[in-house]
Amino acid sequence: MEKIKEDILACKKCPLYKERHFPVIGQGNHSAKIIFIGEAPGAREDATGVPFCGKSGEFLNELLNHIGIKREDVYITNIIKCRPPNNRDPSDSEIECCKEYVERQIEIIKPKVICSLGRYSMNFMMNKLGIENDKISNVHGRVFKNKYIFIPLYHPAVAIYNLNKSEELKKDFEVIKKYVD
Ligand code: URA
Repeated sequence: MEKIKEDILACKKCPLYKERHFPVIGQGNHSAKIIFIGEAPGAREDATGVPFCGKSGEFLNELLNHIGIKREDVYITNIIKCRPPNNRDPSDSEIECCKEYVERQIEIIKPKVICSLGRYSMNFMMNKLGIENDKISNVHGRVFKNKYIFIPLYHPAVAIYNLNKSEELKKDFEVIKKYVD
């Protein structure tokens, strides 16, 4: 993990390093049973280096509370480690450049369960695990048993102002609970 951190701090593979304040490497337990993979850092994360520490993070904390799992017991990371300007979506080439870091994090942690947050990390994991791509509205909360147990989830940001989605996310989190107890 130290080597991954060093490599990310020195990374110039895509132009995002030029405008970032801090790369957001990942946070949590290095032997976690669950990894959450978000998309890319937002403004708060860029200013602090901590993943999911803004509004989406508050909701993620609530969801973890809802199923009685402590944030420090899981590992939280993103597919892109540096903030895209103006919170735009990550590009294919940025994902391609950055993916080795999340792949190495997964290899070291060897989680039982991988949860993607949002469609970019869902597509990334589906490609990686050889699962046929589908729309997030069709597959959120479904359990794919593969090398890992993979559960695609909506991004907490979409649920902040959408009560239906927030209820769906709560139900989907209840699914995770079954696989870590
Ligand atoms: N959204 C993400 O996808 N990741 C973060 O770290 C914060 C917000």
